[in-house]
Amino acid sequence: MSTASIQTKEYGTVVRERHSVRHYDSSVKISKEELTELLAEASLAPSSSNTQSWRFLVIDDEAAKQKLLPIANNQNQVVEAAATIVVLGDLDGYKEIGRINDIAVQAGYMPEDFAKQFTENSLRLYSSLPPEKLKSIVQIDGGLVSMQIMLGAKARGYDTVPMGGFNPAKLIEEFKIPSNLVPVMLIAVGKAATPGRLTARLPIEDVTFWNGFDK
Ligand SMILES: Cc1cc2nc3c(=O)[nH]c(=O)nc-3n(C[C@H](O)[C@H](O)[C@H](O)COP(=O)(O)O)c2cc1C
Repeated sequence: MSTASIQTKEYGTVVRERHSVRHYDSSVKISKEELTELLAEASLAPSSSNTQSWRFLVIDDEAAKQKLLPIANNQNQVVEAAATIVVLGDLDGYKEIGRINDIAVQAGYMPEDFAKQFTENSLRLYSSLPPEKLKSIVQIDGGLVSMQIMLGAKARGYDTVPMGGFNPAKLIEEFKIPSNLVPVMLIAVGKAATPGRLTARLPIEDVTFWNGFDK
């Protein structure tokens, strides 16, 4: 295992210490190897029928960061942070289900006849879904993997900020994003120059309901 894989923080610490960071030490770079490991770990997230419809566009070179800046409403974190990960949802991602199930068969996770049936059923189901339903599915999957990117980064000693403040049409145009890919969010990753500010949460009792709303 490379040193980049070593995580020292407990989940309880990671989840409590993660705060959105908007000022980064621009001298700190994260290697392609480590970013790839971070994404591979994040990809252990659950997804609809294990379709893994997320796709990642990693922006870590200066020219690409400068191109992203106005698209991201001039939020400076996209140039200061080591990288910004554009999390995308692939509307055609379900078409990989056969390959995914084949890998599961090879690994001994799934019997071959089950995989065949599962693939056929999934392809039939997903190809019949209305576009807005498919879009909602890939956005949910993209949200789950995004959270894992942020916690994984924190566990490695980095900080992040998720961003919905960007122009999706411009992003698609400028970075030549294929039409099957829907932007979910941007995530800046890097070393904090200034800690993220603390944010309040509603009391959990006010947002949790047990066994129905009719009590
Ligand atoms: C979908 C989404 C979009 C967000 N967009 C932005 C953004 O464009 N810029 C920004 O600075 N923060 C953005 N945030 C960060 C939130 O403001 C932040 O998560 C929230 O205030 C709670 O703070 P915390 O992340 O430090 O716990 C976004 C968060 C989410 C989940």
